[in-house]
Amino acid sequence: MALDRHSRGIAMLKSMKFQPKTLRTPRQTIVAIGSRKDLVKICSREGADLLIVTDQSLVGLPLIQEIIQSVSEAMESTTIYSWAKTDVPISDIDDAVELCQSKKIDVILAIGGGTVIDLAKMVGLLLIHGGRPEDYYGEDKVPGPTIPLIAVPTTAGTGSEVTPVAVITDPNRALKVGVSSVYLIPTFAVIDPTLTLTCPPSVTAHSGTDALCHAIESFLARPKELTASHLVDTVFIGQNATTDSYALQAITALAKNLEKSWRNGDDLDARSEVAQAAMWAGLAFAHGGTGCPHAMQYPIGATTRTPHGLGVGLLLPYVLAQLKIICAERMGQLAEAVGLVQGQKSALEFAEEFIQWCEALLERIGIPKSLADIGVNQSELPIIAERTLLVTRLLQNHPGSSDYDAILMLLTAAWKGERSLVIPD
Ligand SMILES: NC(=O)c1ccc[n+]([C@@H]2O[C@H](COP(=O)([O-])OP(=O)(O)OC[C@H]3O[C@@H](n4cnc5c(N)ncnc54)[C@H](O)[C@@H]3O)[C@@H](O)[C@H]2O)c1
Ligand SMILES: [Fe+2]
Repeated sequence: MALDRHSRGIAMLKSMKFQPKTLRTPRQTIVAIGSRKDLVKICSREGADLLIVTDQSLVGLPLIQEIIQSVSEAMESTTIYSWAKTDVPISDIDDAVELCQSKKIDVILAIGGGTVIDLAKMVGLLLIHGGRPEDYYGEDKVPGPTIPLIAVPTTAGTGSEVTPVAVITDPNRALKVGVSSVYLIPTFAVIDPTLTLTCPPSVTAHSGTDALCHAIESFLARPKELTASHLVDTVFIGQNATTDSYALQAITALAKNLEKSWRNGDDLDARSEVAQAAMWAGLAFAHGGTGCPHAMQYPIGATTRTPHGLGVGLLLPYVLAQLKIICAERMGQLAEAVGLVQGQKSALEFAEEFIQWCEALLERIGIPKSLADIGVNQSELPIIAERTLLVTRLLQNHPGSSDYDAILMLLTAAWKGERSLVIPD
C-alpha cells in the first residue's frame, strides 16, 4: 500500500542518520513583565533616529504614551506613524514609507499587534531596498538586511515579533500575500505581557486562537527531506525536532491559560503565559510552517474581512478530522500536552478526543463554528477552493490531501458546521 505524505515524511526522518536543523530567531527575545522599560536602552543603542509604528487605538493608551515619551526623549529624532489599519493594506506601507522618505531612520520600534509589526517589517525593507511591496512577495526575495526592528507585541497571538514573515492585504489580489525572509526577523522582540491587559475579549480570543493554530499546524506539518542548502533557501522546513518542543510548550500553556485570560482580562499571570506561548508558537511555525487552516483562511479572510485568528480557529477542527488517521500518533502527543490521558483508548480514539477538546475550547471562547455563520455563501465555496490552491507556500506543509476535491470537501463541511462530513485521509 502506498504511504501517505505524512507517513512518508516520518519514515524518511527515521531513516536519516542526522536530521539537519536550523534556528532563526531575533538577536534577543525578552519576555518579562515591565520589559517595556528596557526599550529606551535597546532603541538608543541601535542609533539616533527612530521611527515608531503603531495604530490609532493604541497611541492613546497611557502605557503606550509612556513608552513613546521615554523613548523619544532618549533619541535625537523620532518620527511616528500611528495610522496602521488592520491587516496591513498596501496603502499604509506607501504612506509610512513616504513619511520617512527624506529622513534618516536608524531603527524602527513597532508597538502593536501583528498588523503593526508586519507593517514595520515592510517599511524597514522598502526604506533600505526600495521598489514596491510586490517585488518581495513569496519566499527569500529580500536581498539583505533591513532597518533594525524592535518588535513590541500588544496582542498575544501572531508571534510576528519572532517570525520571518509579513502578511499584507493587496487590493489587486484576491488573497492576502506574504513576504518571507530571514531578513524580516525583528532584531529584538520585547514582550511585556502588561501591554496585552487592554485587549478586549474578542482580540484576546482571536489572537490566542491564532497561536493555538500555529502550535498545532506546525507540530503536524509534513516532514521534509532537507539538505544544508534548504536551510538557507527555504523558510518553512516542515515538522522538525528543534521546534517540536516549542509547539508542545505553547499548547500546554494555551490549554491552561487562554480561556482564563479571555474570561478575566486583568489576570496578568494568565496573560503572561499566553504571551509567552504565542512567542513559542511563533518560533514553531516560523520554522515548521502552518498548513491547511491558514491556507484556506487567506481567501476567506480576504472575502469576509473577518479576523485572521477567528478564521483559522473556525477551520482547525475540520482539518484535524481529515488528518486524524494519518496523524493519530502526533495528535496523541498534542492531547497529552493539553492534559488529556490516553488510558485504554486507541490512538484514533485519543486523536478524536483531542479534536473534541479543541472544538470545545474554541466554542467556549466564542469562535464561530461554520463558514455560514461568518457570512460566506455556499456558492462561493468553489472559488474559495480554487484560491486556496494558490497558497502553495502553506499547502505544501499540509500532510493530508490538498487537491481541489479535498479542499472543497473541507470547506463544505466547515460551511455546514458538520465535522462528520469530512472523510479522513
Ligand atoms: N507575521 C506573522 O508571522 C503573522 C502571523 C500570524 C498573523 N499575522 C497577521 O497579523 C495580523 C493580525 O494581528 P493581531 O491578531 O495581533 O491583530 P491586529 O494587530 O490586527 O489588531 C487587532 C485589533 O486589536 C487592537 N489592539 C491590539 N493590541 C491591543 C491592546 N493591547 N489593547 C487594545 N486593543 C489592541 C488593534 O488596534 C486592532 O484594532 C493579520 O494581518 C495576520 O495576517 C502575521
Ligand atoms: Fe496565523
